[in-house]
Amino acid sequence: GTVVLAYSGGLDTSCILVWLKEQGYDVIAYLANIGQVENFEEARKKALDLGARKVYIEDLRQEFVEKYIWLAIQANAIYEDRYLLGTALARPCIAQKQVEIAQKEGAHYVSHGATGKGNDQIRFELSCYALCPQIKIIAPWRMPEFYTRFRGRGDLMEYAKKHGIPVPVTPKSPWSMDENIMHISYEAGILENPKNPAPPGLYTKTKDPATSPDVPDILEIEFKKGVPVKVTNVKDASTHLSSLELFVYLNEMAGKHGVGRIDIVENRFIGMKSRGIYETLAGTILYHAHLDIEAFTMDREVRKIKQGLALKFSELVYNGFWYSPECAYIRHCICKSQELVEGKVQLSVFKGQVSILGRESPQSLYNKELVSMDVQGNYEPSDATGFININSLRLKEYHRLQSKVSTK
Ligand code: ARG
Ligand code: SIN
Repeated sequence: GTVVLAYSGGLDTSCILVWLKEQGYDVIAYLANIGQVENFEEARKKALDLGARKVYIEDLRQEFVEKYIWLAIQANAIYEDRYLLGTALARPCIAQKQVEIAQKEGAHYVSHGATGKGNDQIRFELSCYALCPQIKIIAPWRMPEFYTRFRGRGDLMEYAKKHGIPVPVTPKSPWSMDENIMHISYEAGILENPKNPAPPGLYTKTKDPATSPDVPDILEIEFKKGVPVKVTNVKDASTHLSSLELFVYLNEMAGKHGVGRIDIVENRFIGMKSRGIYETLAGTILYHAHLDIEAFTMDREVRKIKQGLALKFSELVYNGFWYSPECAYIRHCICKSQELVEGKVQLSVFKGQVSILGRESPQSLYNKELVSMDVQGNYEPSDATGFININSLRLKEYHRLQSKVSTK
């Protein structure tokens, strides 16, 4: 049968490609460009040299930003209070194109190089099954005939040499990385001891805030329906309009000023804790900017409900349920909540921090007259007396009971 393999060009998926051929499969290699630094033409050549019948290289960057990242920004999606979900958001995007290719090619199988202990296998496979229930998935790292043969990197290297697979010339970094336009993650290897701080030189996308520029960049970010539509740098008045362009520009700004680093221990869906280090650049700036414009324009009670949905949304995304009915429902609600979330946020990016400086909006619910200490506005201060009295009823009753208990 024909299998569409999510191919990265690295040692693991190169060995998987050759191994699949060995098992008698006809292999189509699929490389998703989701903004990682990669020589795609070199990878194409490599896949063909290794015996792939065909290679697809798909530029998914704009789709990833507009259909996945923008929703996460609108939701203020965050997993376990800290992780902005850079890897988790990319998986349904990659899987959707993989299934599309399989259907177009009449392939009954898809394959990937995710390990058997992680989240990625779940995200890939739930996405594939949701989009194409009859698809068959080959996950070599969960197949005894594969993982007993390849017990470590040494076995992969040896297999590579034997089968003419180019082995990496640069020594492998002592941790695993996953990169896309939204973030890069580092886990495993020497990071597995959660006590050990990240070694200097681990970070690849952000400057160390200790040595980052002594002058901030001041940015104005304009939102419409909760999505950034324009970024202006106040210093040089340069503006960035398209989704991809403004996202890349914010990545540059965050990197320059050391914004977006986190080092956390998180709960994998499969049931284990894992230590991860992340650099989320534009995503971190936009997270703060969106929170601010939303607080400015959204009704208090709508906001509370939406916050609960966002918590659930983050968990669904992390656990691989993007294409589930409950996630579709929540996405719909989140979009609805954003209809009036518009305006401009001014912020500084400086020494690892995003600081909000001000905001303005045609949809602002902020009423200066109403809140001012200097003007009365459409408000009777004496009304507050009754409001407080009614609210205190319950508290007084509670106190009455408490004092009875304590005098007993
Ligand atoms: N722990 C993060 C997550 O589950 C990052 C996973 C990184 N994936 C990888 N293949 N290295 O989203
Ligand atoms: C992997 O196991 O492939 C990476 C880690 C994860 O998916 O959580």
